[in-house]
Amino acid sequence: MSLNTKVRILGFAGSLRRNSYNKALLRAAQELVPKDAILETFDLDGIPPFNQDLEQNPPPAVKEFKSKIRQADALLIVTPEYNYSVPGVLKNAIDWASRPYGDNAFDDKPVAFASASIGMLGGARAQYHLRQMSVFLNMHPVNLPEVFVTFAPQKFDASGRLTDQDSRKFLAQLLENLVRWTRRLKGQGKEEARKKEIEVMAS
Ligand SMILES: Cc1cc2nc3c(=O)[nH]c(=O)nc-3n(C[C@H](O)[C@H](O)[C@H](O)COP(=O)(O)O)c2cc1C
Repeated sequence: MSLNTKVRILGFAGSLRRNSYNKALLRAAQELVPKDAILETFDLDGIPPFNQDLEQNPPPAVKEFKSKIRQADALLIVTPEYNYSVPGVLKNAIDWASRPYGDNAFDDKPVAFASASIGMLGGARAQYHLRQMSVFLNMHPVNLPEVFVTFAPQKFDASGRLTDQDSRKFLAQLLENLVRWTRRLKGQGKEEARKKEIEVMAS
């Protein structure tokens, strides 16, 4: 990946629900992704329950998921909170992609998290569990801003568009930080700063 190459982000949502607020948040992220990045999405529907007997030769949907994660420069995980943690669908997909031991697709990936909930904490507890998992998965999460879309029914319109301006602003900032973080981890931080300096001097 060079400075002129777009950062490829893979995004997936921890809800399979047709009218999911989190799927809608992921669509908003596609609208708000910076110009020097692209956001492709993957639907976890179709990933079967984890069975360690199959981890050496996993089902096709899991192979595809792992391959998409590997091709991506960075990840965006958008999830609801279920019973104070991440939904089983998301944990299941993470478990598959982390296995077999020594073949963890998440290894060394920059990642950003966002969540939407109908409640007042916006899925915060699920995000903190993802941060905990990131330690063993060896992912590198963006710290700030934390995007918790609280009281979700008030923040999206009937067509599922994120209409709340503050949420859009924070999500756009998170994506910008993810792209900058990814470039920094790939050693482009100094190069990028120098390019900006040249642009400023030339203007
Ligand atoms: C099994 C289950 C557990 C839930 N637990 C929580 C919870 O712990 N915290 C919370 O804020 N919302 C919880 N909710 C409500 C979700 O915020 C709400 O269903 C939300 O719409 C789910 O996200 P989605 O719209 O992307 O599917 C729960 C919902 C379900 C179905």
